[in-house]
Amino acid sequence: MIKFDFKKYQYSKLENYNLEEIVEQFKKDNKMAGWYDLDTSCVSEIKKTAQHIRENCDTFIVIGIGGSYLGAKAVIDALTPYFEKNKPEVIFAGYQLSSDYLANLLDYIKDRNVMINVISKSGTTLEPAISFEILLKFMEEKYGKDVVNRIFVTTDANSGTLLDLALQRGFKRFVVPDNIGGRFSVLTPVGLLPIAVAGYDIEALFQGASKAKDDKEYFYYTMLRHTLYEKNKFVESFNVYESKLDSFAEWLKQLFGESQGKEGKGILPISTVNTQDLHSLGQYFQEGKDILFSTTIFASAKCNIELENYHHTLNEVNFLAMQSVAEAHYNGHVPTSIITLDSISEENIGYLIFFFEMSAMLGSYLLDINYYDQPGVNGYKDILHKKIKE
Ligand code: PA5
Repeated sequence: MIKFDFKKYQYSKLENYNLEEIVEQFKKDNKMAGWYDLDTSCVSEIKKTAQHIRENCDTFIVIGIGGSYLGAKAVIDALTPYFEKNKPEVIFAGYQLSSDYLANLLDYIKDRNVMINVISKSGTTLEPAISFEILLKFMEEKYGKDVVNRIFVTTDANSGTLLDLALQRGFKRFVVPDNIGGRFSVLTPVGLLPIAVAGYDIEALFQGASKAKDDKEYFYYTMLRHTLYEKNKFVESFNVYESKLDSFAEWLKQLFGESQGKEGKGILPISTVNTQDLHSLGQYFQEGKDILFSTTIFASAKCNIELENYHHTLNEVNFLAMQSVAEAHYNGHVPTSIITLDSISEENIGYLIFFFEMSAMLGSYLLDINYYDQPGVNGYKDILHKKIKE
């Protein structure tokens, strides 16, 4: 169960936003609206493959960057108990260019039983391409012909270098649907295969997402963000009070940053993991420049610890800290909306995925920008490719 406190705000322009109409418009005119359908047709094949992978390796490497890995990482990290490794262990690669990371990874997996899922919609992105090239070579040396049974490719159905390679080598393929962009792809094979391999219930993710679709709470959140933006609140901090939700906040940063940060518009998404960041960024929130607002996700802990000397459980103290921070920051001109989860479960995470995806899309329509492209990302890519050639 998830509770929102958005409705307590008064939206003077509520009826003027026409968000229901925007949804209709988006469904009609948008070629990239596939994620809205919550298509479950791939689920049984994903579950079958995931089961095979779970039974036949101890290390599953997921290669991808941006929308091709952040969603899966967000869900897996949120659901995995602290200090526990999934079986098989899921390791992410290809999301940066660190030689040390890749070299240490090769060393770490040399005596392990490895399978790989390489994910790239375009099939041409530099970071995953480099990691895959190196890891494929490692796999060929280690497994010879059996490599064909150990590589799973998730890419476009019709084009790209990765597709060509998969077809040529006979690797098992999953398709990133044409009408779904990277950062909206967690509930497609992009996110679902790694999540299922990690042992989590992907059908429950869809159940939560469908509930979010029906509840339409995203309308309130969208309006709240937009109203604050119009009042010159240009930075939104996503605050979590469980550090295993840190990756979920990273996914949110990408979802909103890439969807809305364009044409000189958009709210800059940042994140804090509390209470640790109260002792660093907290100072700025309380007394810094007046440009911030907060969205807090508080999830009740599964385990509880009695604190005799404090007359509360540890979870209660964490909740009181969250409330105190919201109150203090409000006094420092940083309003906070609070989303409360009764637990971190597949259903609740699925709910939040759809809830935030809708808000990112609707907010972009309100800003009159294209939510599914990211032309600015090419800025660094073009210069880098030129430098590499030189
Ligand atoms: O959200 C997006 O579309 C991007 O972040 C992409 O996911 C990212 O650039 C990776 O692209 P690709 O999957 O083509 O390698």
